Amino acid sequence: MGQPHILILGPPGAGKGTQSGNIAEEYGIEHVTTGDALRGNKDMDISDMDTEYDTPRAYMEAGDLVPDAVVNAIVEEALSAADGFVLDGYPRNLEQAEELSGMTDIDVVLSLEVSREELVDRLSGRRVCDGCGANFHVEFDQPAEEGICDGCGGELEQREDDRPEAVENRLDVFDENTTPVIEQYQDHEGFVAIDGEQPPAEVWGAIDSAVRERADVSE
Ligand code: AP5
Repeated sequence: MGQPHILILGPPGAGKGTQSGNIAEEYGIEHVTTGDALRGNKDMDISDMDTEYDTPRAYMEAGDLVPDAVVNAIVEEALSAADGFVLDGYPRNLEQAEELSGMTDIDVVLSLEVSREELVDRLSGRRVCDGCGANFHVEFDQPAEEGICDGCGGELEQREDDRPEAVENRLDVFDENTTPVIEQYQDHEGFVAIDGEQPPAEVWGAIDSAVRERADVSE
């Protein structure tokens, strides 16, 4: 058996990025994240893809989905270069789920569950390092020195889409587009729901046990 193919699903702020970092490190697999890939290419020219806007930026800052053609191409390229992976931020609608099923098989589907009230608190308090991309939180995960990254000394800033209007829209977009994807994956044999409202270390413990029961992660 090859390295594990893991999908992590959940609403904005559920902890997908945080836990994907643990997964990638623990099992030595790639962290494939559409959010980071798009943030690194916010101004790429997508005008030849017949889209409403010419770059991903306008979609992302409003909290809307970037068109499928752009995201599908990013994922296809990243997965073709990875043996094992944890896929974070994709698929976000049923069309993307259909596309993914033609690209690869999946061993484990982790669904992080968190209430809307908690998600709003997490997203509005999140601060991200402009140097290394590390996440902090003004209440739950404070840096030693306010506004400064513990890891690289970079400046901490708020993501454009963590402002209140965009947060509400992102949660609505999730309910409308991604909830049906999760419902569909509930029939997958590797599906497991994880209580994402626990402290991060406990969420990680639940994920690690779930993955070890469902995939071969021996070194
Ligand atoms: P993306 O970057 O994927 O954003 P998201 O799904 O909204 O997820 P987040 O990164 O906000 O949250 P997360 O679940 O990773 O939580 P995190 O670990 O950071 O996408 C951004 C945009 O890109 C989209 O809106 C869209 O425009 C576009 N896009 C991306 N993929 C696309 C696709 N497939 N199709 C179309 N468009 C796409 O944690 C959040 C905060 O909570 C942090 O501060 C963290 O420290 C804290 N925290 C984490 N876990 C806990 C815990 N257990 N307890 C307390 N605090 C916690």
